Amino acid sequence: MREISDDELRKILEEHNRWLNTDGEEGSCANLSYCNLSSTDLLHDAKLCEVDLHGADLRGTDLRGTDFFRADLQDAKLNEADLRGAKLYGADLHGTDLRGTDREGVEGLASYLQPEQLEYYRVKLPEWLDRCLFDTLGAFYWRAPEAASKSLEFSTDKLKGYLGTYFPRSYAESFSIFSNIFSKQFIKDRFIKKGEISIMDLGSGTGGNLIGLLETIDNNIDEQIDIKIVSIDGNEDALCFQEEILNTFRKRTDKKIIFKKEQRVIEKHSDIVNIANKLDEEKFDIIITFKCLSELAIYNLPEFRKIYSIFPEIASGIMSEFSFLIILDVTTLLKEIGNIKYFVPTVLNKQINSFESKNNFLKTIIPKPCFAYASKCDLTNNLCFTQQQFKVNHSRKANDISKVTYRVLVTEKVYKSLNLRVDNNVTYITKWKFDGRDKQSDYRCFYSKETDKEEDSFKL
Ligand SMILES: C[S@@+](CC[C@H](N)C(=O)[O-])C[C@H]1O[C@@H](n2cnc3c(N)ncnc32)[C@H](O)[C@@H]1O
Repeated sequence: MREISDDELRKILEEHNRWLNTDGEEGSCANLSYCNLSSTDLLHDAKLCEVDLHGADLRGTDLRGTDFFRADLQDAKLNEADLRGAKLYGADLHGTDLRGTDREGVEGLASYLQPEQLEYYRVKLPEWLDRCLFDTLGAFYWRAPEAASKSLEFSTDKLKGYLGTYFPRSYAESFSIFSNIFSKQFIKDRFIKKGEISIMDLGSGTGGNLIGLLETIDNNIDEQIDIKIVSIDGNEDALCFQEEILNTFRKRTDKKIIFKKEQRVIEKHSDIVNIANKLDEEKFDIIITFKCLSELAIYNLPEFRKIYSIFPEIASGIMSEFSFLIILDVTTLLKEIGNIKYFVPTVLNKQINSFESKNNFLKTIIPKPCFAYASKCDLTNNLCFTQQQFKVNHSRKANDISKVTYRVLVTEKVYKSLNLRVDNNVTYITKWKFDGRDKQSDYRCFYSKETDKEEDSFKL
């Protein structure tokens, strides 16, 4: 972060105004990237059109009436800033942190740039993790379609490619999903009061989604709590990488981490049951499985044909009374029968609906309309393709896109406290398509009408 005195800033702003008033003939366009501007009061009503404010610290700054026309505010921190009456036409707000800002009367925030949406699906890898992956562990960017289908057999070399590509994506997905969940104060309060969070991750691999969850807990809960983790995967090398990353995280947090890693290859249904039985002294508050069940399903063994029904059934037996189950997977083709193509999302939704129609212990809260319609959908042949896109930024790749499908299921204690309402006058979008910076609806929930009020089904 660059420190800048008020005198310097005054001069830069004068030069910038000259540049604006002479159409670029005199003066110079201000570059305030990575400047600490959090304590200045020179910026309200300022003309910051086209200014480079990339990564600047504007936390709590008085920005009333400031004109940011086409300014670069990427990754800038504006938390708690006063933006009343500010103009943001054409400003680049990718990765901008706008939490807690006062935005009364702000102009030029196009709907697709709503900060809530940006905060939700765009994530930057924290620096400590970026360094750990790329400098310490030798990760590299490597896109390979098989990375999410045959990773059980991955060698150390391939795992380094996984670490540089798919780990950050899983991190981002998990970080976004749990940031959304932990935005509810009563959920945080519950875990603070309990003094611990107990987590199980099946198919945890190198640990992308686990670390995403831990970082979210650390960012959202200041109190000292214990975090107990049971991490299960068949690939021993992947688990070793995971432990190394976890040990780096451990040094940065005041939370007590109790980590148990279980190297197990799942070959049949009873292997999952046995894992659960062995763990039944423990009830988990959070169970996660990211991009693992499709790897089991892809082998098409009779055991795993109904894996998305079987897994929640088994998980429900080892969940605490206030507990979350997140099943996330890829959106690729799973199988083709005749001329019907079955993609992972449609199979996942069909099987979880079937589970929910027979089980009273867990209910889906994300995607939101499933809360009302999951059992009803079980009676139909709808092929429901739900998908969310996430973007992750790290030192080796900007805006790397990940497309996944997921369901968040919770116990009664959680959904009753949430008081979730599915609104008949809202169109719940279950898949978005992106066109440059714009975001448009592609599919909506079969049961929601077309209205002019669209909502992201994946947001709580
Ligand atoms: C695509 S990776 C996902 C890893 C991690 N959850 C993530 O999102 O980055 C799938 C993981 O499932 C594990 N896996 C696949 N089949 C398995 C099996 N039959 N038994 C145990 N683990 C398995 C692989 O070793 C791999 O680590």
